[in-house]
Amino acid sequence: MTGFAARLRKATMVEHREAETRSFISRLLAGSVPREGFAALTFQYLIVYRELEAAAESMRGNEIAAPFVDEALNRVPSLEADLAYLGGPVKATAAAERYADHLREHCHTSPEHFIAHHYVRYLGDLSGGLLVGKKVAATYGLTGGGGGVSFYDFDHITDPKSYKIAYRERLDALPLPEERLSVLIAEAQHAFSLNGAVFSELGAAYPEEISPAA
Ligand code: HEM
Repeated sequence: MTGFAARLRKATMVEHREAETRSFISRLLAGSVPREGFAALTFQYLIVYRELEAAAESMRGNEIAAPFVDEALNRVPSLEADLAYLGGPVKATAAAERYADHLREHCHTSPEHFIAHHYVRYLGDLSGGLLVGKKVAATYGLTGGGGGVSFYDFDHITDPKSYKIAYRERLDALPLPEERLSVLIAEAQHAFSLNGAVFSELGAAYPEEISPAA
């Protein structure tokens, strides 16, 4: 990998390492988040993915962004099914509202902003996300198919590895000038920080020393 996909990965490596080792998600992997905390995370995702997938609809007709739009990725129906199963009460964090506002403001009209956010969420979901899904299923005794963890199950993507290879080829082929590629990179870094803010707020709301998972 020597093209833009490699550059994007490298430029977000520090942010990724932080998410992997220090966030609420790493606590999920360690099994130290109470079940209500997991339901709360699922709800924040619903707020975010509603905006991201609304932006994807707008971007369907955009020459640069359209190759990334794919219904097989859509997470909103799975998130709704998971939340119906997990139950409430859950509420929006200020950080998720800010994230959604940002998506609404930038991702319907700017392909570089849209692709940056699309990359950070969906390529992450198709990577570490699969591992997180297996772990939380085991921690809370949940299943896919609307049983609490369908968000982590891409029914319509049989081979995530080759999907990611094709995705990176699309990144490499982006017909954008350097100036706009740099905007995409900065926006992907920002996307990590918007995610990080959601994780921090959830981490504070569900501190492990007070409510360890059963
Ligand atoms: C404990 C948490 C996490 C683990 C264990 C993890 C693990 C991984 C692994 C192993 C890969 C490499 C996959 C490959 O090369 O095919 C990857 C890629 C990726 N992850 Fe994560 N991840 C975690 C959290 C996150 C979070 C929270 C996000 C975003 C908010 C994220 C976004 C990404 C992205 C965008 C990629 C693709 C990198 C690229 O190839 O360009 N990850 N992750």
